[in-house]
Amino acid sequence: MKPKIIIFEDTKEIAEYVVDILEKELKKKPASVFCVPTGKTVIPVYEEITKTYKEKKLDFSKVKIFDLDEYIGLKPEHKKSFRHFLDKNLYKKVNIKENNINFLNGAAINIDNECKQYEEKIKKAGGVDITLLGIGVNGHIAFNEPGSPFDSRTREIILTYQTRASNFGRLYSLMISPKKALTMGIGTILKSRKIILIAIGRHKAKAVKAMLESEPNTNCPASALQKHDDVTVLLDKKAASLLKKKN
Ligand code: GLP
Repeated sequence: MKPKIIIFEDTKEIAEYVVDILEKELKKKPASVFCVPTGKTVIPVYEEITKTYKEKKLDFSKVKIFDLDEYIGLKPEHKKSFRHFLDKNLYKKVNIKENNINFLNGAAINIDNECKQYEEKIKKAGGVDITLLGIGVNGHIAFNEPGSPFDSRTREIILTYQTRASNFGRLYSLMISPKKALTMGIGTILKSRKIILIAIGRHKAKAVKAMLESEPNTNCPASALQKHDDVTVLLDKKAASLLKKKN
């Protein structure tokens, strides 16, 4: 089945749409398993989750969470770590239990073991119900950079210059930014029962077009999502601007 594409007027509408899906899912299955990303794109979504949680409409007390990826070399408490980002923007804002938060430790001594254990943890949790994704300007999902096999599992990956430049910005940060990361694989992500991908802004338009309108190929990791039968792509007009067909 082709991904369902929805184009929104603004970011707030996208955030509300995601929260609506989560609310329905939590009603159906309070002990849902979610997989979550970092990035500027999801900040409004996490803000909307926080707002709705405060209105007592969401309960995360039984939810299990998996982080999608992490920089190698950064401790969980490091200010630039994804774990820190998620603590600050999501985990500390709602009633997710610390024991139910699963994350890839960028400071793990044995990286291969860390990856294997993560796959085991996902299996033990009964698989992921909903994976929320952003997309990189080069079409990456989580940190699956171009060239990542569609059946890849959680593993170490070398980050492209482009990814480091867009995530760390200024030259100084670029020089000292982590060159490697841990990421859930494309194959791992495709096992999720439902996938929601969000893209906002004109800088994402090329990647969005490649994801949806090219034949699935490893040059655009996100194009693997065409092989999944429950994918919803939420776009603002700028991110959708290069699409041939708009609905
Ligand atoms: C990072 C993350 C991705 C995220 C992407 C987009 O590289 N590994 O999971 O989707 O950046 O980030 P942003 O939303 O800031 O554009």
